[in-house]
Amino acid sequence: MSKIEVKLSEIPEGKNMTFKWRGKPLFIRHRSAKEIAVEEAVEMAVLRDPQHDKDRVTNPKWMIVIGVCTHLGCVPISNAGDYGGYYCPCHGSHYDASGRIRKGPAPLNLEVPFYEFPDEDTVIVG
Ligand code: FES
Repeated sequence: MSKIEVKLSEIPEGKNMTFKWRGKPLFIRHRSAKEIAVEEAVEMAVLRDPQHDKDRVTNPKWMIVIGVCTHLGCVPISNAGDYGGYYCPCHGSHYDASGRIRKGPAPLNLEVPFYEFPDEDTVIVG
């Protein structure tokens, strides 16, 4: 299927859920107010692949990325690593809760797919 529809009320605050989409893991994270504040405050100068959090999310509560490490394609572990986002155990890449690469060998942020919210409780990715 080229699109996936997810009911957002099934994802509790603070949790990341993984779905399968186009043969890849898709991460949907329900961010807390604290996580949103932390990610929005990150200075561009400290980022390897500089992108403001606001340019990576449509609604700050929901971070939606492809769960494929941009180093060599392993699947990162959620709520792990030094930046509270994701940790790739293959070679030690750390991503933040915006899916941005912060430490380790991966060159780029986790990819944000195209998605839209047809209503408050639904996201359609693809
Ligand atoms: Fe993720 Fe190498 S594949 S760090």
